[in-house]
Amino acid sequence: MKFSSTVVWLSSAIAVNAIFPFDLQQVLSPAPLTGKPNFVFIITDDQDLKLDSIDYMPLLSKHIKQKGTFFSNHFVTTALCCPSRVSLWTGRQAHNTNVTDVSPPYGGYPKFVDRGFNENFLPVWLQSAGYDTYYTGKLLNAHTVDNYHSPYVNGFTGSDFLLDPFTYSYLNSTYQRNRDEPVSYEGRHTVEVITEKALGFLEDGLNGDRPFFLTVAPVAPHSNVDVSALGKGHSPTVMTEPIPLDRHKDLFSDVKVPRTSHFNPDEPSGASWIKTLPQQNKSTIEYHDHFYRQRLRALQGVDELVDSIVTRLEGSGQLDNTYIIYTSDNGYHIGQHRLPPGKACGFEEDIRVPLFIRGPGVPEDEVETAVTTHIDLAPTIFGLAEIPLREDFDGTPIPLPSSVGSNAVSIRHEHVTVEYWGNSYLEGERGALSNPANLPFFNNNTYKSVRIIGEGYNLYYSVWCSNEHELYDLITDPYQLNNLFTSKEQASEIFGYPLLQVISRLDSILLVLKSCKGATCIKPWDVLHPGGSVQNLKDALNPLYDAFYTSQARVSFDHCEHGYIPEVEGPQDALPFTRYGLNWDVWT
Ligand SMILES: *[C@@H]1O[C@H](CO)[C@@H](O)[C@H](O)[C@H]1NC(C)=O
Ligand SMILES: *[C@@H]1O[C@H](CO)[C@@H](O)[C@H](O)[C@H]1NC(C)=O
Ligand SMILES: *[C@@H]1O[C@H](CO)[C@@H](O)[C@H](O)[C@H]1NC(C)=O
Ligand SMILES: *[C@@H]1O[C@H](CO)[C@@H](O)[C@H](O)[C@H]1NC(C)=O
Repeated sequence: MKFSSTVVWLSSAIAVNAIFPFDLQQVLSPAPLTGKPNFVFIITDDQDLKLDSIDYMPLLSKHIKQKGTFFSNHFVTTALCCPSRVSLWTGRQAHNTNVTDVSPPYGGYPKFVDRGFNENFLPVWLQSAGYDTYYTGKLLNAHTVDNYHSPYVNGFTGSDFLLDPFTYSYLNSTYQRNRDEPVSYEGRHTVEVITEKALGFLEDGLNGDRPFFLTVAPVAPHSNVDVSALGKGHSPTVMTEPIPLDRHKDLFSDVKVPRTSHFNPDEPSGASWIKTLPQQNKSTIEYHDHFYRQRLRALQGVDELVDSIVTRLEGSGQLDNTYIIYTSDNGYHIGQHRLPPGKACGFEEDIRVPLFIRGPGVPEDEVETAVTTHIDLAPTIFGLAEIPLREDFDGTPIPLPSSVGSNAVSIRHEHVTVEYWGNSYLEGERGALSNPANLPFFNNNTYKSVRIIGEGYNLYYSVWCSNEHELYDLITDPYQLNNLFTSKEQASEIFGYPLLQVISRLDSILLVLKSCKGATCIKPWDVLHPGGSVQNLKDALNPLYDAFYTSQARVSFDHCEHGYIPEVEGPQDALPFTRYGLNWDVWT
């Protein structure tokens, strides 16, 4: 059933919903269930927003960006594939999923299963809401040729997953369909393979009796991992530049990593291990430029994949009844702050990802600047599919016109909580060379941070497990080269307020956010000011609260751990603002 008159139906559903509780509405009008919109969700792997990758994808721009809304302040909550994807598919921060790494004991598919999410994640919920669900590509790390059946992934009408250790082998991938045995696609390009599979599932969706939710998760532009090199003294895994389709291999030969002021800077920047990185020499920079071009080339296959999907939807008459969402699991850096290729940091390159949505009622060629995050996406999809939100969502539907979707009301927020535990992987054939121990990772990359964007301010504040701090004012320092925290005695003001007072607010909101759950993740200021008199950083900066914020416990760590061990993560609870034992906000 797929009408193209969904928008009309949606508006009448809102009216009915306003009068009757949800169940009653179903009884009164059972038929409209089949009038729900379809979804195509395309998620690339490690695609940046800040390094301009979108500029090299004309078909994506034409079909999705210009035909929909670009969420220009969209962030991930953990800049690493597996934790970020689990947060996306559950709508919860990594400290609430406790899937914080790519492999056991702290992450990967086995941890996802152990934590019960195989019975409790988006595709399962969508199936019970009446959707046919399809998935092809990478689901999670450590989902392997050995464990794919123990247990099988739940929630999909049809699935065809990339499996480790072949997930990142562009020319030697292995996919596993439904309950079948894994199949090797040795010698074929993974993006070509996934395009066939995606179009096959799209056909199944279009021919089904129910609305469909199709996810396409190509591995591009992630680094390539040569499987035949594994176990031949190349362990741990060396991640090299991605491999494009043959027809794209010579494109962009003059293109280089943007030479912004934070590209391989003369002075070290950041905190912890990042501050120790050597400056890159000419030949390393040349390799990184090549690495960058290979990413852009590898993305051309994805650009064509987008074109094939949209063209087929158009031909089916279903395009106007389908939301197409395009994003990535985390961002990427190459050479900024002297970093070898990789993610896992809290810098803009790593935490910002593209987010484009087109579909019924979504404004065309529009830019929405409200802060949105990956944990907002499951709630957003619930809203668009008219499913009541879950209490355990740590996110809220992203802002869309009120005529779009349903009952789901967006709560605007100006923050994103970014958290990370464990290793930062150093990619590229020279990655390990930036570690004096010659290992392709640095450990102790454990930190909490808050990114906050409001009227007149644009800040990033972090606390590392070493108790180092960072504070960047992105209005005056968009490339995050000047850590105001370390110069806090000299620097005087941000946004017209004394720096120390700004820090006290940021630390307190981070104290709330690092252990928030559900509503407190969405409206963290309500924890500090239960009366609701403070809704954002600006309100909190009222000098009336100076003493309160100065006396609040501080975010800190006892030491570095590779997983979420709250016992070493310092104070957990923030005190509310009270006076004489009474809630001040309520009494004034
Ligand atoms: C593909 O992977 C298999 C299994 O590791 C290996 O035997 C084979 O040599 C690989 N093929 C290529 C082209 O790398
Ligand atoms: C550049 O740096 C790399 C990695 O640190 C090193 O292996 C290489 O020898 C250096 N090349 C030159 C020309 O100094
Ligand atoms: C990592 O942190 C632990 C505990 O805080 C510390 O003992 C260790 O020396 C650190 N390792 C490195 C390589 O800095
Ligand atoms: C998270 O998982 C790790 C590894 O299983 C475990 O040690 C830790 O206690 C868990 N954290 C919480 C808060 O449950």
